[in-house]
Amino acid sequence: MKKILVIHGPNLNMLGKREPDVYGAITLAQVDEAIAKKGKELGVIIESFQSNHEGAIVEKIQEMYPDIDGLIINPAAYTHTSVAIRDALMLVSAPIIEVHISNIYKREAFRHKSYISDIAMASMCGFGVKGYVLALEGLCVAIEGETVI
Ligand code: DQA
Repeated sequence: MKKILVIHGPNLNMLGKREPDVYGAITLAQVDEAIAKKGKELGVIIESFQSNHEGAIVEKIQEMYPDIDGLIINPAAYTHTSVAIRDALMLVSAPIIEVHISNIYKREAFRHKSYISDIAMASMCGFGVKGYVLALEGLCVAIEGETVI
């Protein structure tokens, strides 16, 4: 079975409490549950990881990169700042999907720059937490080579 790593960056552990007008009322546990359910449907193994620490995210990528068939990452605020996470992602030969719950391009100018977009296979932003499940579907199409519309 294919293995997909899902990484959630800083403050995403506060989903449901954090700026609900921007990020919604659904908690990270509920998001991970929805991703796991979709993973089961699609026949892939999902491992989810959240950290508020840049180095911990770098270390998780370093640990997992040889064993994964795809990576979904919402680097949260590190999207806009982290060369270290970008450099770690350069280790990953499997497809990477960047996810943002909000539409970062409709927000403050400092959120318009992503250090990840140009090394990702695709980016999903502005669909709320549903974006994770949509990203997983798209990623599975890419790694299975299936054509579904
Ligand atoms: C975010 C957008 C980032 O700008 C922000 O720092 C986050 C969440 C999103 O999912 O919309 O923490 O990545």
